[in-house]
Amino acid sequence: MIIAVDGPAASGKGTIARALALHYALPHLDTGLLYRAVAITVLRADGDPADPADALAACAFDDLLLGDPELRSEKAGAAASVVSAHPAVRAALVDRQRRFAGQPSGAILDGRDIGTVIAPEAAAKLFVTADPQVRATRRHAELAGRGASPGLDAVLADIRARDERDSARAAAPLRMADDAVLIDTTDLNVAEAVAAAIAAVEAKRG
Ligand code: CDP
Ligand code: CDP
Repeated sequence: MIIAVDGPAASGKGTIARALALHYALPHLDTGLLYRAVAITVLRADGDPADPADALAACAFDDLLLGDPELRSEKAGAAASVVSAHPAVRAALVDRQRRFAGQPSGAILDGRDIGTVIAPEAAAKLFVTADPQVRATRRHAELAGRGASPGLDAVLADIRARDERDSARAAAPLRMADDAVLIDTTDLNVAEAVAAAIAAVEAKRG
């Protein structure tokens, strides 16, 4: 069973994907980390995330980087949304994601284009969203908990800019798959969001 979980920044898709992975005992891949790793590799090489050649070269990043706390920063998220718009970068990361999805056990992947591009055959597709103000408040609290404290306004502006870039790009834009189930977490706590996700997957499994 492949479960695709897509949605914008801080919608709660990662939390839902991790909870589903535990519930169904399936391996989970946070695909945003791959784009964040490309972004940080470009920045550390003093490259330009908007330059397609710089971004493509960084796709050969060292896997050890995937555990680096700097990947979780808003700077990495913003640069990830720039490198991820290059079609060559997306192409360079497709195989790795499809191999993960194709494991015999099945898998859960979360990102922006799992249900539309990476695993259109997924048994269940969830599109997780929430009001931008609520998403900014969540991300702001998360960053503050890690000792990084950009203002709430800055976090909201970053989330809006990322939503816009991720939705407007030509290559695999952020879009709900036609057969996805929408989960709006604006008024849901984590337990309620996870329960809604499990119910949606169960309904798809029949
Ligand atoms: O956790 P959050 O939603 O803030 O970010 P993320 O999932 O780590 O993704 C960071 C950036 O990578 C996004 O803004 C997208 O531009 C890009 N991304 C993508 O293009 N496709 C994916 N499957 C996952 C992430
Ligand atoms: O993966 P994504 O960027 O979509 O979001 P996340 O990392 O799953 O969630 C962002 C933050 O919002 C985390 O600190 C979650 O605990 C929190 N959250 C929440 O307060 N209520 C929800 N229904 C879902 C997530």
